[in-house]
Amino acid sequence: MSTIEKFNEHIMPTYGRFDVVMEKGEHETAVDENGKEYIDFGSGIGTNSLGFCDSEWADAVCAQVRSIQHTSNYYYTKTQADLAEKLCNLTGYKKIFFGNSGAEANECAIKLARKYSFDKYGKDAERFKIITLVNSFHGRTLCTLSATGQDVFHNYFFPFVDGFVNVTANDIDDLRSKIDDKVCTVMFECVQGEGGVNPLDKAFVEEIFKLCAEKDILTICDEVQTGMGRTGTVLASEQYGVKPDIVTLAKGIAGGIPMGACLANEKCADVLNKGTHGSTFGGNPIACAGANVVCDRLASDGFLDEVKKKGEYLREKLTAMDGVEGVDGMGMMLGIRFTDKEKKAADICKACLDNGLLVLTAKEKLRLLPPLTITYEEIDRGLAILAGLLK
Ligand SMILES: Cc1ncc(COP(=O)(O)O)c(C=O)c1O
Repeated sequence: MSTIEKFNEHIMPTYGRFDVVMEKGEHETAVDENGKEYIDFGSGIGTNSLGFCDSEWADAVCAQVRSIQHTSNYYYTKTQADLAEKLCNLTGYKKIFFGNSGAEANECAIKLARKYSFDKYGKDAERFKIITLVNSFHGRTLCTLSATGQDVFHNYFFPFVDGFVNVTANDIDDLRSKIDDKVCTVMFECVQGEGGVNPLDKAFVEEIFKLCAEKDILTICDEVQTGMGRTGTVLASEQYGVKPDIVTLAKGIAGGIPMGACLANEKCADVLNKGTHGSTFGGNPIACAGANVVCDRLASDGFLDEVKKKGEYLREKLTAMDGVEGVDGMGMMLGIRFTDKEKKAADICKACLDNGLLVLTAKEKLRLLPPLTITYEEIDRGLAILAGLLK
């Protein structure tokens, strides 16, 4: 049986996959089982932040595998301690809970926010409502699906976790009308990723923070896709001039090894105390070893400036391209709108694949999340393929 036949036989058909079997990768080039090469403008949905098999990253991960691959969270590991210190230094947050995915990081954030209100205001206050935005995406578990403000993901799975209320993104009046004494948190993405690469308006984000401060409501910024340097700063929220009480990270944090993290500021760092949360694999040393290298790279001189510059370069070239109506997003998280409204992002995505370029879609847009380490030469090669297809 071929690889694809085995998949079809034994793996639940939850994904729409392309008929390509990926075998290996180096820097920003993936290679399939037939030896065909692809320039990577998707980085495994923003996950391989340092590209494929970065040598320093691979050495650290392999060394960790050979020293100790896992201990339960009944014990301490140096790798996790080092990572926590680095992440706190990079972001300015006080304490972290490590999990394995974006959904898990968001589950942790939601539990933390509910417990903060419970501890402070008591059960009878019923401060359990969570405001999220229409068109948001927060994960696929039942709780994070409840948080996700897109009906398309809601079919089949009722009843949902209670207490989630959606506000229209950038609609300040809607936000004001739904914030009341029952709300414990407002959760948002600075740039809605799966929702179509839509950055929030600065005024709307500022209003969230103003209203939340007035009512002691915690702010959660889901930086699963926007975080870890993706937008040219460690966190996208920095560019909005705000510091959420809680930030969630995943995707690029460990350079392609499963990891999620929930970061809390001084106000709520100790809310999740002993016995209130946990995860068998959370903070696994192999993932931490990978994440330590990613953190070191983000902290290294000029790295984030380069991400910003490459993001601007990409945006400039794309904006000038025939067939492109406009480019949305921040840094190296970009969504391309087509002039020809008949053009389907999924068709262009498939054509790119056929021509040796890996890209993503987000709603009606083509989405680019290249590895943060991509070279200008590879950017140009990828853009040339795209230009040929969008003409
Ligand atoms: C903003 C955001 N939050 C949460 C998630 C869920 O992450 P995961 O698939 O790792 O659970 C995603 C995934 O695309 C995301 O983009």
